[in-house]
Amino acid sequence: MSSEKPRSGSRRPRRKIPVARLSDFPAGTRMEVSVGSVQIAVFNVEGDFFALFGRCPHQSAPLSRGRLQGTVICNADTCWETEWAHEGEVLVCPGHGMEYDIRSGKAFGYDLRLRTYEVSVEDGQVFIVM
Ligand code: FES
Repeated sequence: MSSEKPRSGSRRPRRKIPVARLSDFPAGTRMEVSVGSVQIAVFNVEGDFFALFGRCPHQSAPLSRGRLQGTVICNADTCWETEWAHEGEVLVCPGHGMEYDIRSGKAFGYDLRLRTYEVSVEDGQVFIVM
């Protein structure tokens, strides 16, 4: 008979970290939030909120200062023709220009992904859920 305990309940409870009042965080703006020693970049893109790890893995540039744009894609879906896509959803690192999908945190052209965080809006307050 095994003496191991079941692993259920081993997950930490989720925390909600307040970011700002919704009225202070309009579409087209972004903020940087520190949670302990971790910086998180939070964006309001036309009313949809996205939160990502706030430092670029290359040389730690603050991603909350990056611009949002589209990017060129070329794949089977575009019949291998170049096409501008993802307008306003590509976060460009202010350091050296690496591009990240703001929805997934995945870097374009590199095998890495920024951690992303859920964002909730409750009673007029924006939260990061960790
Ligand atoms: S610090 Fe982001 S690309 Fe260099």
